Amino acid sequence: MEKTLTAEWIREQADRMVPGRVRILDQTLLPEQRVFIETDDLETVWTAIRTLQVRGAPAIGIAAAMGVAAALQRNAADSGAALAEEAGRLADRLATARPTAVNLFWALDRMKKTAADNAGMAPDALKERLAAEAQAIRDEDAACCRAIGEFGAALLQDGDTILTHCNAGGLATSELGTALAPVYVAREQGKTVRVFADETRPLLQGARLTAWELSQAGIDVTLICDNTAAQVMKEGRIRAVLVGADRIAANGDVANKIGTYGVAVLARAHGIPFYVLAPTSTFDPQASDGDAIPIEERSADEVIRGFGRLTAPENVNVYSPAFDVTPAELIAAIVCEKGVLRPDYRESIRNALG
Ligand code: MRU
Repeated sequence: MEKTLTAEWIREQADRMVPGRVRILDQTLLPEQRVFIETDDLETVWTAIRTLQVRGAPAIGIAAAMGVAAALQRNAADSGAALAEEAGRLADRLATARPTAVNLFWALDRMKKTAADNAGMAPDALKERLAAEAQAIRDEDAACCRAIGEFGAALLQDGDTILTHCNAGGLATSELGTALAPVYVAREQGKTVRVFADETRPLLQGARLTAWELSQAGIDVTLICDNTAAQVMKEGRIRAVLVGADRIAANGDVANKIGTYGVAVLARAHGIPFYVLAPTSTFDPQASDGDAIPIEERSADEVIRGFGRLTAPENVNVYSPAFDVTPAELIAAIVCEKGVLRPDYRESIRNALG
């Protein structure tokens, strides 16, 4: 029998808070091993985010919020004000873990504001309040993914094959994911949608995570090397491209995993619609356009000996930005929990953000 999306596996990985502790599925070990990190230590959470044990824009926001809440549980502050100050310090520390995905800062700002607004509470009550806020961030993200899935599925027809890059599924968010949510919802609606997954050099999120996640859920997925995308488009196999986002500027420029921009150019060359799917927590109205988005650079080691074997001369120069920016003019629509946004994005994004 076909596995359904509500199978325990997706709930298991999506459940990231256990009493007093944050629970993280170590994505660096997938698909070989399924290992959970359970901790109330802030530096362990910082390292988990920095090293991509937890990754994906919404997921790192959720993990960070839960990390702040968990790290405060054993704090001995004798007033709500002192606890709120400590919450601010912890949030500022986690904000240094990765620079590009704006969901991290969005979630941490929300935790800081909750702490400051409730600094008059007794310490134990404030701890509970912060844990509830972290859980709310997670639950709201799950609802956003569901809405994105419903809006996105309406763009797909029975029998379509889509191409995706990196991983913007349940592993990158809570529950349904963003770019993959329409695939899961389409299946619930009785449509068959197949997926081509780019392997996504250098850390192979497409191969290790997307291909794994989709096959666990019983979705028909075909893994391709990154340099095969043009060929499968030319062969007429792809009906649409669906990707997630790490930060969306006010004009609709989208930062996402390195390689996304190239896929968007290819899609335009082949007349294939290129869709971006992300919750409004990924929008950054302060960034006027893509040039204002900070792009993380990763270490040379990930490129020359990523999975344990030297695959390039040890001392070769390496340039490894983790993200690129796809210009708004290449994007057919941005799907968020509020609906399907179309150009002019400055206006449609402003309306979506209210
Ligand atoms: O470096 P990562 O794996 O955290 O990058 C994540 C991405 O870029 C994903 O593609 C994604 O679309 C954003 S999360 C839904």
